[in-house]
Formats: sequence, structure tokens, C-alpha cells
Amino acid sequence: MTQPPSPLDKAAAKAKYGPWAVIAGASDGTGEGFARELAAMGINLVLSSRRRQVLEALGAELASAHGIEYRVHVQDLMVPGAGQAILDAAADLDVGLYVSNAGADAVGRGFLDEEVERWHCMVTMNVTNVVETCYGFGRKMLARGNGGGLLIMSSGSAMGGIPFLSMYSSTKAFESNFCEGLWGELKPHGIDVLCVLAPLMDTPCFRRNTEGTGFLMDATAAFDPFDVSRDALGWLPHGPLLMYPNLVGGEDMRPEMAERRARVEGSMALGNSFNEPAAT
Ligand SMILES: NC(=O)c1ccc[n+]([C@@H]2O[C@H](COP(=O)([O-])OP(=O)(O)OC[C@H]3O[C@@H](n4cnc5c(N)ncnc54)[C@H](OP(=O)(O)O)[C@@H]3O)[C@@H](O)[C@H]2O)c1
Repeated sequence: MTQPPSPLDKAAAKAKYGPWAVIAGASDGTGEGFARELAAMGINLVLSSRRRQVLEALGAELASAHGIEYRVHVQDLMVPGAGQAILDAAADLDVGLYVSNAGADAVGRGFLDEEVERWHCMVTMNVTNVVETCYGFGRKMLARGNGGGLLIMSSGSAMGGIPFLSMYSSTKAFESNFCEGLWGELKPHGIDVLCVLAPLMDTPCFRRNTEGTGFLMDATAAFDPFDVSRDALGWLPHGPLLMYPNLVGGEDMRPEMAERRARVEGSMALGNSFNEPAAT
């Protein structure tokens, strides 16, 4: 059910989302999936995350397979200023797509069971740096005049608060509301915005976070992260949200996606009225 309305044409995608794409959290899971899909379209990549060696190996493999250029940028997104550092790392490049991928949390910690600094780190990664990077790359795409894309990996938990994931689900809700608004604002400029309300995915991070816990994961219930990356790129021109059922083979979420989109479209006039002079 998550099949995009039409497959992304590779040449058209390269023209719109290239010549460079930047992926924050590119070394594994959906981030690696985005890198593989984009490289196959001939789009050059800035690969950012904390593990240089993994990024270097991925970049070298993709450059050799697809003849693309790549740049590795080592950055911890939980550090203040990380968003600006990513912008600086791509300052001299013509960036047509920014992917905010990293953003998971260790599973199941109560709000009061952690130091408050930990929650500040989560806000830094999933709110402050998302704002900084979307602002910076969005301005660059606006200036270049031929559009582009902003793709933000959120979570199904954005739909409502979850005990013991209170801060995680809250930051993910920020991402989805933010993207719905941005989608309406940037659409007239040819900049596509998509927020992925990702389902349970069998990623290395998810495996690490749930190992040894009481979390019961039926491997067949979790989505393949590479499938999700592929779907997300296909849906990029059809934002603002890509929603998934809780489990593989679950209900069709397209009616709900259409409803959310209609609500955003319906509120365009309200939002725009702030920019219009008062009627006399
Ligand atoms: N897995 C799921 O079931 C699930 C469900 C719903 C939503 N999501 C969302 O999907 C996205 C991907 O999730 P994921 O499970 O693959 O885990 P993730 O940890 O969010 O993403 C993994 C990627 O992000 C990088 N990364 C992680 N923490 C980082 C940090 N502090 N600074 C810089 N890079 C960092 C990792 O590389 P390095 O280790 O090299 O830094 C790796 O490349 C996230 O936004 C998550 O919220 C996941």
C-alpha cells in the first residue's frame, strides 16, 4: 500500500534533486537506503553521521558502482550547532535534496528517569537541527530557482503521545507539523517537502535498542528499511506526509494521507491571510 503513485523517473529526479544530495544519518538503515537509491540516480552525495569509516566505505562503493562524487562529513547531531556544521560542509555545493534521517531514541525510558540534558539533546537533533538545516538548504534551493526537496524521517509516533517515548514522540510530532506547513509554503517554488511517519523497521539501531529488553519484535512484522527509503523517494513529489500501517500488510493509509493533505490545503488561505494587508 505504500507504493508511490508513479515511480520516480531517474533523469527527472536527478534534474530536480541533484546534482548533490545531503543525508544526515547516512551510514545504515534508511539513511544507507537513501544513499543507495540516490547514487543509482547519478546524484552526488554528502554522507553525514558519526562513523567516518562506515561512511567512507559506503561512499567509495557507490562512487565505484555509479560514478558519483561523494563527501564524508563526521558530525554528532545531538551537539548544538550541528545543523550549521552540515550546511557549512555543503556550502560550496549545489544541493537539490536534504534528507534528515537520524532521529531515533533508545527505547522505553521514562521522562523523569533521565537527566534533563538527555532530552535537550533529543530536541537539538530532532527540532533545532532540523529547523537549521531546512532553513539553510531551503533558502539555497529557493535561490537556485529550479526547486529541490526536503525529506524528513519522522515516525508513526508523531500521531500521538506514547508513554516512555514522551520526548521522542513529541519531537516527531514537531517534524510532521513543521513539514505540513513547509509543504504548503514551498510547493509554489517547486520545492517538495515530505515527512515520513515511518513504521517499525528492522534497522541496526532498532535492533541495538531493543536487544535484551522485553520488546517483542516479530521480524516479519517490521518493515525493511531499504523498502521504506525507496518508497519515500517515490512519494517525495506527493507530500506532505507518507504514512504506514503499524505492521507489514496492515491497513491502507492513503485515505488518511489524503485527509491530512486536504486539511493542509484547506488552511492555506488562513495561513496566507497573515501576509495580506488588512481589509479597510
Ligand atoms: N527503526 C524504526 O523502527 C523506526 C520507527 C519509526 C521511525 N524511525 C525513524 O527513522 C529514522 C531512522 O531510524 P533508525 O532506526 O535507522 O535509527 P537512527 O539512529 O535514527 O538512524 C541511524 C543513522 O543515523 C546515524 N545517527 C544516529 N545517531 C546520530 C547522531 N547522534 N548524530 C549523527 N548521526 C546519527 C547513524 O550513524 P552513526 O552511528 O554513524 O552516527 C545511522 O546512519 C529516525 O528518524 C527514526 O526516528 C525508525
